[in-house]
Amino acid sequence: MDSSIKIGFIGAGNIAQAIGICIIKKNLLPPNQIYVSAPSERNFQKWKELGVNTTHNNYEVILQCNIVFLAVKPQNIHSVIIDLSMSKNELDFDRLIISIIAGLSLKALDLMLRSVLQRYSLIKAIPNISIIVGKGTTVICDDEDKPASEYNIKLVKMIMSAGGICEIIPESLMNAASAVSGSGVAFVYSIIEALSDGAVKQGIPRILSYKLAAHTLLGAAEMVLETNEHPAVLKDKVCSPGGTTISGIHALEKGGLRSSLMDAIEATTNKAFELDKK
Ligand SMILES: NC(=O)c1ccc[n+]([C@@H]2O[C@H](COP(=O)([O-])OP(=O)(O)OC[C@H]3O[C@@H](n4cnc5c(N)ncnc54)[C@H](OP(=O)(O)O)[C@@H]3O)[C@@H](O)[C@H]2O)c1
Repeated sequence: MDSSIKIGFIGAGNIAQAIGICIIKKNLLPPNQIYVSAPSERNFQKWKELGVNTTHNNYEVILQCNIVFLAVKPQNIHSVIIDLSMSKNELDFDRLIISIIAGLSLKALDLMLRSVLQRYSLIKAIPNISIIVGKGTTVICDDEDKPASEYNIKLVKMIMSAGGICEIIPESLMNAASAVSGSGVAFVYSIIEALSDGAVKQGIPRILSYKLAAHTLLGAAEMVLETNEHPAVLKDKVCSPGGTTISGIHALEKGGLRSSLMDAIEATTNKAFELDKK
């Protein structure tokens, strides 16, 4: 990455740390070219161990960096904007702002930023927590009424690809995509836990049951990605006529697994739209 680039994070929590670690691990930028701010020391220990610059002053991050991730909870963005408004005269070079705040539309954020920044480009990127292990899924978008340059989109894609795959989608699909990949991680953990409970009920030790269940999901997912076959075709290959697996599938259908998962995606997407209206 260009040696003049400095990346900042306003918000030092879980997801910011995960992105920061990916950037450093993939040698996109040395730690001394990364800045992070948060009100407390609570999350600073890890950043300091990595050699990243830490500060309690959000303004310092925006002053120092040409790429800035907004990585706070939606309820904290207003206080960030107030901090940035302190000395807007000094903020006179182009900045790329990457919002990872789920459920906050680019238009709403742009309205706030306009009052404190003069020259900036805005892109939203919603990663999932699996970027910690380099298997993340990130979706990115720009505001269709105020599109980002191809260069900036490529730059964000490159940064986020350090932690896994990164897909560009329209903002209108962002909440649904975040439901599948962002919240989907939690749904899959519930599935792993349930498979494990089932295994334990049948006498398999707990630790082994987690291992079997998690690896089964990992392998099944890799089969979908590598073979490019329809999941139903792959499922059919495992179900021999009159066999054990089709009996299990029947039980899943009775329990409404597929319908429950579709409901979960719908509920999550709707909630994100609701939050954005607040
Ligand atoms: N976790 C995920 O999987 C995930 C995925 C995609 C998107 N996101 C989005 O990422 C954002 C952060 O999530 P998270 O899970 O990383 O939350 P988190 O671990 O709670 O981190 C939030 C960070 O924001 C800091 N903060 C609070 N008020 C601030 C302020 N006024 N100025 C600067 N920093 C402030 C906190 O400071 P302290 O360290 O002092 O507490 C903390 O470092 C959320 O908007 C979430 O929707 C999360």
